[in-house]
Amino acid sequence: MIVITTPTGQIGREVLARVLDAGDGASPVRVIVRDPARLSPRTRERVELVQGSHADPAVLKEACEGADRIFWLVPPTPGADSVEGHFRAFTDPLCEVIEGQGVERVVAVSTLGRGVAEKAGQISASLAMDEAIAATGVHYRALCPPSLMENLLRQTASIHAEGVWSEALAQDRVVRTCAVRDVAAEAARLLLDDSWTGYADVPLVGPDTLSPEGMARVVSEVLDRPVRVRQITVAELKARLTGFGATEAWAQGVADMMHAQNTQGFYGATRPSTPDTAPTSFRQWCEEVLKPAARG
Ligand SMILES: NC(=O)c1ccc[n+]([C@@H]2O[C@H](COP(=O)([O-])OP(=O)(O)OC[C@H]3O[C@@H](n4cnc5c(N)ncnc54)[C@H](OP(=O)(O)O)[C@@H]3O)[C@@H](O)[C@H]2O)c1
Repeated sequence: MIVITTPTGQIGREVLARVLDAGDGASPVRVIVRDPARLSPRTRERVELVQGSHADPAVLKEACEGADRIFWLVPPTPGADSVEGHFRAFTDPLCEVIEGQGVERVVAVSTLGRGVAEKAGQISASLAMDEAIAATGVHYRALCPPSLMENLLRQTASIHAEGVWSEALAQDRVVRTCAVRDVAAEAARLLLDDSWTGYADVPLVGPDTLSPEGMARVVSEVLDRPVRVRQITVAELKARLTGFGATEAWAQGVADMMHAQNTQGFYGATRPSTPDTAPTSFRQWCEEVLKPAARG
């Protein structure tokens, strides 16, 4: 039995689709979902449902009954009162379930930055999550992407209306990226493979070495119109997030994460690409994902 968390999220939804399509039926799939109506009728027919949040120990326990594998993702939650507390509120029940039930393999979404990132907000909390999960002794793969290309989708309205997106990352420094489809493909592959053991990070670093300015040039070419990056400060980004309703703690975490990326370079030029696990180029992603979204 494979348990999949966040089946309605941009990563989890694609992990679920890939596991259902590639699975041979030998491994039934159970999803933990807060609102089953957000799954398609076809998906609901093909999975077992456990309703609730995977932060709820009783829900997680029920979902993991008889399960040997789990796809794990801590959701981004701008309303959280504490970044570390938020990650722990999800991860502590997982560790209890691993220790008390028969879960053998965990595949989770984490991040690049181990050994380098310091005071990096959500990135530091995610790396601490890996350490807590690995300490249970479960077989564990931490999927480690840098910046998701899909982050740009949050700015399609501004790209569409004004030909501009706002960026708190330094404009002239390389920022490595990865497409959600590559994270999902690797997650599904690992969930369907029961030969791996122990703990390892799985870096997912796309082929590009573009700065935000270089990304804007690619976006301009693909959309066939001028598109530029508007540099904003980390403080401006933080103010925007609290303006949209994020807590002070969550917005500070994002600010710390951006500052750490700008100054510590762990999503930067020195990271080698991993063509086997992250083959999608930024240009391909723009053609296939951003262009239709920006038109819509
Ligand atoms: N963005 C980046 O550049 C980047 C880089 C590295 C790593 N990451 C990691 O990637 C992950 C992002 O995942 P994503 O893009 O798939 O997120 P997403 O699209 O925002 O999806 C969030 C999912 O979590 C569910 N959810 C939200 N709050 C919940 C709660 N309290 N209890 C249970 N479920 C809840 C949502 O379900 P509902 O339908 O119920 O709302 C949805 O399925 C994060 O873990 C982040 O740390 C991101």
